[in-house]
Amino acid sequence: MSRHLRVPGSSNPSANPSFENVLVSRRAFLQGGLGAAALGALPGCVTRATRPQITFTPIAPSSEDALRVPPGYEARVLFRWGDPVGAAAGMPEFRMDASNSAADQALQAGMHHDGMHYFPLAGSTHGLLAMNHEYLDEGLLFPDGMANWSAEKVLKAQNAVGVSIIEVRLEGSEWRVVRPSQYARRITARTPCGISGPAAGHELMRTAPDPAGREVLGTYNGCAHGWTPWGTYLTCEENWNFQFERSGGATTADEKRYGITPRGRNYRWAAHDERFDAGRHPNEPNRFGWIVEIDPFDPSSVPVKRTALGRIKHEGAACSVGADRRCAFYMGDDEAFEYIYKFVTARPFEPSSRENNRNLLDEGTLYVARFNADGSGDWLPLPADGAAKVRTRQAADAAGGTKMDRPEWIVAHPQTREVFAACTNSGERRQGDPANPRGPNPFGHILRWREEGDDVAATRFRWQVFVLAGPHGASTIKGDAFACPDGLWFDSMGTLWVQTDMSPGVLGKGPFAALGNNQMLAVDPEVGVFRRFLTGPRGCEITAFHTTPDNRTAFVNVQHPGEQPGDRSNPANPRAYSSWPDYEPNGRPRSSTVVIRKKDGGVIGT
Ligand code: FEO
Ligand code: CA
Ligand code: CA
Repeated sequence: MSRHLRVPGSSNPSANPSFENVLVSRRAFLQGGLGAAALGALPGCVTRATRPQITFTPIAPSSEDALRVPPGYEARVLFRWGDPVGAAAGMPEFRMDASNSAADQALQAGMHHDGMHYFPLAGSTHGLLAMNHEYLDEGLLFPDGMANWSAEKVLKAQNAVGVSIIEVRLEGSEWRVVRPSQYARRITARTPCGISGPAAGHELMRTAPDPAGREVLGTYNGCAHGWTPWGTYLTCEENWNFQFERSGGATTADEKRYGITPRGRNYRWAAHDERFDAGRHPNEPNRFGWIVEIDPFDPSSVPVKRTALGRIKHEGAACSVGADRRCAFYMGDDEAFEYIYKFVTARPFEPSSRENNRNLLDEGTLYVARFNADGSGDWLPLPADGAAKVRTRQAADAAGGTKMDRPEWIVAHPQTREVFAACTNSGERRQGDPANPRGPNPFGHILRWREEGDDVAATRFRWQVFVLAGPHGASTIKGDAFACPDGLWFDSMGTLWVQTDMSPGVLGKGPFAALGNNQMLAVDPEVGVFRRFLTGPRGCEITAFHTTPDNRTAFVNVQHPGEQPGDRSNPANPRAYSSWPDYEPNGRPRSSTVVIRKKDGGVIGT
């Protein structure tokens, strides 16, 4: 999600260190040197001598309303907002005038594609894509924007977010969505979801329609995603508070800590779905902000909110499997001065036991990260009871986590287990600290760390700044410049892919002008030279990168092409700026999944 849609300032009132008062060598951190020696060699690494090198020809920045990839590559649009998911034959097609009904939208791709994962059905030629539809632009969703607001409009809006699962297959040299498909489904802001783990049934989770506190309608604002080694998809509820309003006076301290405000962010769902009025249903907000586990292979399965992983504004959940097969999930809370978390399962996953893995995410330890000035770090355990899960931010305040500059995607190297985390930017920070060295921080940075003993369950780690982003001269970037890192992904060969989310409010302006539209770059973290691989159309952000197991197909999402600062509900606003990918006169820009292949069928990145 773009920066300009956020509530300014921070809702974190704690006195926890953001290191604003710690005196350290700013130069040491700007040089990225601290902790480098301590990180040492990388056991188990796919060595540079044994894997394909990054050899594609980098491309220049672009401000065109087009998606560009390097010479020798081709990019094709696969799945646009409004395309039918194909759960049955004859599903409604998208109408460019946005006249599709709410019922149509429940059978079509949602808006604003975000995190995405490829689950193989047959290796690298046939599989499922699960993806998030993060949020809404009512100016595109309706012919008349938010005028004539109605129950039908709320229903269409709620059906335009959530998750799509589609079946995809390589036919010749071209990927197609399989329709009809026994796997295809939409999960929306109204789909029944189970609640499990320590907060399930807790009094803070009970509402009038659900006195047991064990079932909630819907998931939405899923941002980055996660996956499990047992083959499930995780959607991660991020800016869920924006849809809530709060009638009847001042908000409570708990509501303030999670950004609930009297008027919300003008989604106006409460007008026709009263559970989004926290004044009338005070516990309904407690039922959002979770990691939601979905079995993509079973379209009748019920998504489950796994409360053991905490309630925050979840960006994503990056899995790292330990030597003992216990699993760590790294998670950012994407707001200024919020924290980085880790959840470690109590038990190992068993590759051959579906029953063992079914509820593995219900037991384990949740930690918040403290980044110390000497390059060490501590994982501070949080209480495991249901109330502490609902109030995860407050528990992290009490534990003493380090306030970060909007932690977005986090990824673990598939062989070394080294972890990388994108801190996208922060206009709110006034003075740098070791882990967030710039104040303000308009360009963002990427951190890296190694767990003690490369044990995913360790409670100590060593960290350093991997790169300070920004234009040349204002960054530590070697190679092609970028700003505001958001999406991160490791392919199976250990290439780190970095995607940017410079907000529409800064694109083309001041120091951002030289960087063009949002983009995607590749970097070998052992070498540290960034190469620009893809540039997106106007006003978009680039998010989600996943390759087939053979690394010869990449799936990328383009989110909110045409977005500009200002009124989200204005039908004219985005359409005047971008018409990607259809380029129809008066057409609507459409978030889309793009397939990238090498024309010679080679490995992506070579
Ligand atoms: Fe949805 Fe943190 O970006
Ligand atoms: Ca972002
Ligand atoms: Ca993001």
